[in-house]
Amino acid sequence: MYPGSFDPITNGHLDLIARASRLVDRLIVAILRNEAKAPLFSVEERMRMLEAVLHPYPNVEIATFEGLTVGYAAERGANVILRGIRAVSDYEYELQMALMNRRLRPEIETVFLMAGEAYSYISSRLVKEVARHGGDVSGLVPEQVCERLRWKLAGPA
Ligand code: PNS
Repeated sequence: MYPGSFDPITNGHLDLIARASRLVDRLIVAILRNEAKAPLFSVEERMRMLEAVLHPYPNVEIATFEGLTVGYAAERGANVILRGIRAVSDYEYELQMALMNRRLRPEIETVFLMAGEAYSYISSRLVKEVARHGGDVSGLVPEQVCERLRWKLAGPA
């Protein structure tokens, strides 16, 4: 299971999903329902963007969850949690989460994939910031996401 906010999905996420889909039988891309993070896109919008870009991967399923990641992984019978690491700066937070998740559910292993080097500086947060200020984010997110960002940021607040 690959959990995350995906607000919105970036080409970095997509690269990770493409590579992970070749490593596992079945991959659940799980969007956390967490309004406390004040997302730009609703869960439904994020889900539609994921659907639009993930249809070429037949073993990838999209889901949403609330509560603990390991709780949902256990509920779905997922024995691996997948996360991407970009730079050293990701490591500390990811280590904390992985250790906490292991404490909660030792039978679920967290597996890290290194982000593709072309994507190592891309984050949803920076993409939103650049797009919000009129910068060009093509090549950083899938084309469908570019369109949704333009539409979202041009539309009524
Ligand atoms: O894409 P993100 O925002 O980096 O993903 C973070 C996510 C969703 C993986 C993390 O916030 C999470 O697992 N939240 C669910 C609550 C939970 O399980 N917390 C304990 C983990 S230490």
